Amino acid sequence: MPDGKILTIGRHILDQQKLYPHATGAFTGLLHDIALAAKLIAQQTTRAGLLDILGATEGENIYGERQQKLDLFADRVIFQMNDHTGRLCVMGSEESEELIPIPDQFEAGKYVLLFDPLDGSSNIDVNVSIGTIFAIHRKISAGERGTLEDALQPASKLVAAGYVIYGSSTMLVYSTGQGVHGFTLDPSVGEFLLSHENIQMPPTPKYYSANQGYTKKWTPGIQAYLNWLQGLDSDDHEPLAGRYIGSLVADFHRNLLRGGVFLYPGDMKEPAGKMRLMFEAQALAFIANQAGGYASDGVGSILDIQPHDLHQRVPLIVGNRDLVETAENFIREHDNEWVKTYLPIRQGHTR
Ligand code: AHG
Ligand code: MN
Ligand code: MN
Repeated sequence: MPDGKILTIGRHILDQQKLYPHATGAFTGLLHDIALAAKLIAQQTTRAGLLDILGATEGENIYGERQQKLDLFADRVIFQMNDHTGRLCVMGSEESEELIPIPDQFEAGKYVLLFDPLDGSSNIDVNVSIGTIFAIHRKISAGERGTLEDALQPASKLVAAGYVIYGSSTMLVYSTGQGVHGFTLDPSVGEFLLSHENIQMPPTPKYYSANQGYTKKWTPGIQAYLNWLQGLDSDDHEPLAGRYIGSLVADFHRNLLRGGVFLYPGDMKEPAGKMRLMFEAQALAFIANQAGGYASDGVGSILDIQPHDLHQRVPLIVGNRDLVETAENFIREHDNEWVKTYLPIRQGHTR
C-alpha cells in the first residue's frame, strides 16, 4: 500500500479525471463499470471448480476455437455491465464476430469498449492464472450509434486500456495515459485498492516468454533472437530466464513488474501470428508504452498500426524497449522473406 493511503479505484479514477479537464463523469463511470464486471468474473474464477462453469461449450468462436463456459460468462457480464449505461456507442468482443451495438432502448455514449473477456482460456480448467483485457477509444463517427470506423482506430488514439488478472490475487491494471497503476481486489470489502502506483518496467529484464514448441516453424531471425535471449550465441550477456504459461495477461504482467519480453511472432505459415490486434495487442502496447516499454509486430510499433479488420491478427513482441528493438534488428537482418509476406497483410491488402 503506497504510503499507507487506502485508495479505491473509484477515487483514483476521480483523481486522474482532474488531470483531464475535459473528461466527463462518463469516463470515470466506464472504468468503474469495468471494475464491477471484473469483480463478478473474479468471483466465478475462484470457484470455477465448484460451479458448473468449467469446461468447454459446444460453441466455437470466430477463430474456430472451442468456447469455454467461463469465456461466455465473462463476455456476457462485461456486456451486461455496459450495455445500458449510456457511456458507450458500441462494443467489440473477441468472442463476437460482429460489433455489438448498444440496444435501441438505451442511449448511446461517446466511448468504444473493445475486450477479450477471458484471456488464457486453455488454462481455465487447470487452475492457472487467466485474465480480461480491455481498451477504450473515443467515438469519432458522426452518427449517434457507433460504427466500425469508431472501433478500427490505431492504439495511439486510445483514451485508456488495461487488464484484469485472476491469479493468486485479482488485480486490475490500467492507464489513462497518465502512467500505469495496479489495484488489488480486497475480497473482504469487495473493493480494488491501489497496490502498485506508477508501474515502470525495471531496466534490467529477467524473463523471456515464448512458446518454444514452435521453434521449428519460427523464422531464422526469431530463432537467432531466441538463441540470443538464452545467451547461446555468445558469453557477452546474461541469459534471461524462460517463463511461459500460455495466458498472455499473466506472462505480460510478470514481465511488466520484473522486466522481460513476451513474443508471439509471425511465421511463414501464419505471417500475422495469433494475437488479436483489437482485443489483446492494442491494450498491452498502450500499457507497455506508458510503463517505459515498447510493443512491436516485428516491423514497427503496434501503436501506429491502422486496423483494417475487427479480428485481425498481429505478431506481438512486447516488453523492455531494448529487448524488443533487438528482436526488430534480428528480423531486419534475417527475415526479409517474412517481412515481404507480412507487410501486405499488415496494410490490409491481402488476408
Ligand atoms: P485466448 O484465451 O483469449 O484465446 O488467448 C490465448 C492466447 C494468449 O493468452 C496466450 O499467450 C496464447 O494464446 C497461448 O497460445 P499458444 O498456446 O499457441 O502458445
Ligand atoms: Mn486472449
Ligand atoms: Mn479470450
